[in-house]
Parts: sequence; structure tokens; C-alpha cells
Amino acid sequence: MSRPEAKPGVMKISPYVGGKSSVPGGAKPIKLSSNEGALGPSPKAMEAAAKAAAEMHRYPDGGASAIRAAIGKRFGLDPERIVVGAGSDELIALLVKAYAGPGDEVLYSQYGFVMYPISTHAAGATPVTADEKFYRTDVDALIAKAGPKTKICFVANPNNPTGSYISAAEMKRLRDGLPPHTLLIVDAAYAEFVARNDYTAGAELVDAGENTVMLRTFSKIFAMGGMRLGWAYAPANVIDVLNRVRGPFNVSAIAQAAGVAALEDMAHQDASRAHNDKMLAWFPAEVAKLGLTTLPSVGNFVMVEFPKTGKTAAAANDFLMSRAIIPRMVANYGLPEFLRITLGTEDEMRKVLAALADFMKA
Ligand SMILES: Cc1ncc(COP(=O)(O)O)c(C=O)c1O
Repeated sequence: MSRPEAKPGVMKISPYVGGKSSVPGGAKPIKLSSNEGALGPSPKAMEAAAKAAAEMHRYPDGGASAIRAAIGKRFGLDPERIVVGAGSDELIALLVKAYAGPGDEVLYSQYGFVMYPISTHAAGATPVTADEKFYRTDVDALIAKAGPKTKICFVANPNNPTGSYISAAEMKRLRDGLPPHTLLIVDAAYAEFVARNDYTAGAELVDAGENTVMLRTFSKIFAMGGMRLGWAYAPANVIDVLNRVRGPFNVSAIAQAAGVAALEDMAHQDASRAHNDKMLAWFPAEVAKLGLTTLPSVGNFVMVEFPKTGKTAAAANDFLMSRAIIPRMVANYGLPEFLRITLGTEDEMRKVLAALADFMKA
């Protein structure tokens, strides 16, 4: 061997490609490629971040006491059972690293979030997928694929990129059907947007045993993706593991301070949710008038389906980009006929609709 080589799993990773943030020509784009909250962050969070920035020579509170207490208060959870991370991405990676390695399997749904296979390969474990039905997580298919080697089962609920969700009853059926040694990770990044009576983010399953984790993030409804702040709610045994494998100062002081302020600003959270409800009711109906279909979504983004030939998703992507609108191509998920479009402001969505109308006519 003439040079250092990474572990074999690492070279199987297709590196994550983030949503684009610029368009040719340098015009200020309408960025609808990363499901960032349409209204932007709470002004109170921005103020807290600026204040904390003056102290950036100090290390953060490694135990993240204030932000864990604030999360606990806001969501009615025990702060002792919360660990924060630099985005939920970090927690996904840490959990896979801690629970799976060579010879182990990590299970997830066909169109599940792309960080699951990336973290799985990085740990040297084997990703296993279960087919979906109608672009929805299929609980029976997941259960059928689970076995002695299945160390982790990820379910994004709602799922990105499809926007679909499974009910609390279905999630419980999944938990009951998985082997007890399989850690079920319910990734509820979009939970705050969901307005469905039969949905829960999964905290009750965490409380019911020692083998379920719920992941949440500040990147979506709180619109703080740039801060990198996510959290896990987990049984004591999993919290203990996460605290062993995480970096001692894995979340910056600025992110912690901004998170506390964001949680306290209920008016901004309510406004963000009300805005999304409105867009979710309106935008797909307008898209339908153009002769295009969308997948039912409960998140802050919508999948628009394009014909396989002619007015394809790739052509629509180019057209929107030429109008300085950035959607997300999802061919890497095996969904080349779709574009995922984040629900932005009403003005932004009107521009998207006008551009799509022109594209369909062109
Ligand atoms: C389902 C899901 N989980 C996790 C994440 C990661 O979020 P973050 O690392 O910003 O907390 C995302 C971001 O797009 C997501 O869609």
C-alpha cells in the first residue's frame, strides 16, 4: 500500500449534494432546494445569536443545559433524556457509528433520507432498503427485511423527499414488529409542520422502552439550518451512548443561545406553521391547474411529478433555474421524474407557478 486508504465503506459513499444556492448569471435566487423555513428565523433568535457572538472566545456549555431545558419545557420532555447535536445529521452519524459496524445492517425505506446510507457506509455497515407503496413507508416491508443483523431501522416521519407520513398506530406496529435489539430511529425533522390527528413525532415510543429514539431539528420550522442544531430524545441507555461518542463541545454556544430564544418565540413558530398550512392547501391545487400532479405532503415541501419525456423534471429544473428559481432534483433518490419544491413565501410560490405555467406552454 503506497498511501493511506480510508476504510472500504467510506469509498462506497456517494457524497451528499446539498441544495444549490446560486443560479447562472448571479441573480438573487429564490432558493427552494433545502426545505428551510419560509419565514426565516425568529428575530429573537438572531438577537440572541448576535449577543452570544460577543463571547465566542469562550467554549460552549458542553452539557448544553439551557438548550436542553428549553427543549424539555417547550415539548414537555425530560431534559435528561435529550442530547443536542450539530444538526440532526450529526446525531444520525453518531447513532450509526455507535450501534452498527461491519457485518451489521441498517434498514430504511426505499426513498428514505439520503443521510442514512451515507452514515451507514461511513460506519462500514450495510444499508438495506424496504420498498415503498405509493411513495409511502411500508411498515410490513420494513418488518419483513429486519433480522438478527438489523441494528438500526430509520424512518423519516414525515419523509424527505416524498412528504408522506405514517400514523402513530403504524409506527407502533413497526416498533412491535421489529426485533427488540433493533434501534428504531424516528427522524421527525418536519414534525412541527404536520397537521394530522393520527400523527405523533414518536416521543411515546421512546418512553415505552429502551430501543426507540426520536430525532428533531432546528433547521426546518425554526429556519436555523445555518446554525446546525438538532436533538435526540432517547431512553437513558441511548443517551449514555450518545454522550460517550459525541464531541465534548459538539454544539456551538451561539447555536445554543439562538435555540433557546427560538423556542421561546411561540408567535414566530405559530406564524410559520400557519403560513405553511396555507401554502400546503393552495400550492398543489394551483400546480394541478397546470396539468401536473403532486404527491400528498404534510411537510414544508412538495414533490411535483413531470412527464417521463418532453416536459421532464430535468427540463423543468433548467427552466426554473433560468428564472433564478432553485428547486431540488431528486434523481439521486431514484425519483428522476420529480422535482421537490420547498414551500417559500406566497410571493415566491406565485413566481414558481408563473414559471411552471410558462414552462408547460413553451
Ligand atoms: C428527514 C431529515 N432528517 C434530517 C435532516 C437533517 O437536518 P439537520 O442536520 O439540518 O438537522 C433533514 C434535512 O434536510 C431531513 O430532511
